[in-house]
Amino acid sequence: MNKLTYSYRGPLPLGSVVAHYCGAAGLTTYKEGPTWLLVGEEQATQYSLAVYENGTLQATFTGSLTNEGRLHIGGQLLRLLRTHQGLAPLGDWGTLVGVRPTKLFHKLWDQLGSAEAAIERLRTQYEVTEPKLALLAQVAGLQRPYVAPSADSDRLVSVYGGIPFCQTHCTYCSFPYGLLQDYKRVPQFVEAFVADSEHLQSLLATYHLQLATLYVGGGTPTSLGEADFETVTTALAKLLAYSRTAKALEFTVEAGRPDSVTPYKLQTMARQGVSRISINPQSMQDSILKAIGRGHTAQAIKDLYEYVRLHTPFQVNMDFIAGLPYQQEVHMIENMDYVCQAMPENVTIHTLALKRGSPLYEGVGREAMPEEKAVQAMVAYCKERLEAAGYVPYYVYRQQYMTSQTENIGYTLPGHECEYNIRIMEERQSILSVGPGSSSKWMRAPEYRQLQQHMPKDVSVYIDTLDTLLGKRSQLCKQFWEG
Ligand SMILES: C[S@@+](CC[C@H](N)C(=O)[O-])C[C@H]1O[C@@H](n2cnc3c(N)ncnc32)[C@H](O)[C@@H]1O
Ligand code: SF4
Repeated sequence: MNKLTYSYRGPLPLGSVVAHYCGAAGLTTYKEGPTWLLVGEEQATQYSLAVYENGTLQATFTGSLTNEGRLHIGGQLLRLLRTHQGLAPLGDWGTLVGVRPTKLFHKLWDQLGSAEAAIERLRTQYEVTEPKLALLAQVAGLQRPYVAPSADSDRLVSVYGGIPFCQTHCTYCSFPYGLLQDYKRVPQFVEAFVADSEHLQSLLATYHLQLATLYVGGGTPTSLGEADFETVTTALAKLLAYSRTAKALEFTVEAGRPDSVTPYKLQTMARQGVSRISINPQSMQDSILKAIGRGHTAQAIKDLYEYVRLHTPFQVNMDFIAGLPYQQEVHMIENMDYVCQAMPENVTIHTLALKRGSPLYEGVGREAMPEEKAVQAMVAYCKERLEAAGYVPYYVYRQQYMTSQTENIGYTLPGHECEYNIRIMEERQSILSVGPGSSSKWMRAPEYRQLQQHMPKDVSVYIDTLDTLLGKRSQLCKQFWEG
């Protein structure tokens, strides 16, 4: 039995708060004999939460019947769980849990009227430490023009296209789809994707929507063959006719793996108006790339980047992960040496998360994962190097189920931030989506998240039920924009 498991019984509102705090302490749910049993109760004037460890009552926490009361209980629970794990009662993020800390920052900014007041609230109520407060203030300040409430933003949307294929499965990734070469119905997928995109185009016209940004991710969109890649990007590029300005719109395509990119696919993207691509090294050592199943070399990254700089107008993002099997601090120094010489417009530093469903989670290379302290040092080193080279952080998110106090940070050279990444992270603009596994979210101030639709992850289910899915999307648009 896993030591870090819990089970909750009790009212739902308290349960969802408990789930967040247990996640922040690295606990996962487990029904059969969990280490921690948590029993919640809604009484006349308060909630109570009884906390049992292996059947022995450790504490009972109480809080008022409000969100604040629930958060108070959550904070107490986090302290107890961390202490029992031999950790300091609170880490750098205090009692602030959840994957999007800047989302709360913006909400507090709206409610309290200033960034300073938001900082003060996070300091006193959530006990967030000064370095994290400084990071949040910097990121939220840069994001604010995109997320401040405004009257004319209701019909401004972003679009996400999801291509559900890769050529190999990286060991750390919980990618839920099949490999391209194993899937027998790629032509039907392409047909369905185009129909999905055309349907979305008709919705943009019907509801007089304006496009803010366009983003194609996956999987690996460039894993498609050249003709199929051209067909899907051409279908999506038609949406650019609904751009909010006459200026070229931000249009990103993830071309993460150099082994999936050809000059023809790059020319196709340039023709279709793509403005930004992602080329993702993860780490720049062949032995590590091989161990994580990437199927490309560090030299292939360098060659592709050079080619892109010479032959295309694209802005470039590069993703890295700290904490990969066999990775040491010296490797991260090499990675940052390369980045600071290449100077892509955006760099994203992730901390490795053990994701259920990934080969790593099942044990492949797990014994070679570096210690948490070494990972923290790598993340800190990246921050130092990137900031010294002129990069600034522009979005930040945390992983669920991580006891470590690191976070994932997107850095940008000033003025080159990816607007879509801010939009998806802060959830203040409707994002409509095309493709299996993608999600549409209809959002409006002041509550923001109002309606949502998730496309099925199974590509065949997506193909076979597309008509019903598109009918549902039409209905949700009508409900949202015609009330
Ligand atoms: C959804 S993935 C898609 C990127 C693209 N397919 C590629 O591999 O180049 C986006 C990024 O998330 C990061 N990532 C994926 N799985 C991760 C994990 N388990 N822990 C930390 N970062 C992860 C990687 O840096 C990856 O480039
Ligand atoms: S990291 Fe990217 S290329 Fe690797 S399996 Fe995940 S989505 Fe595919």
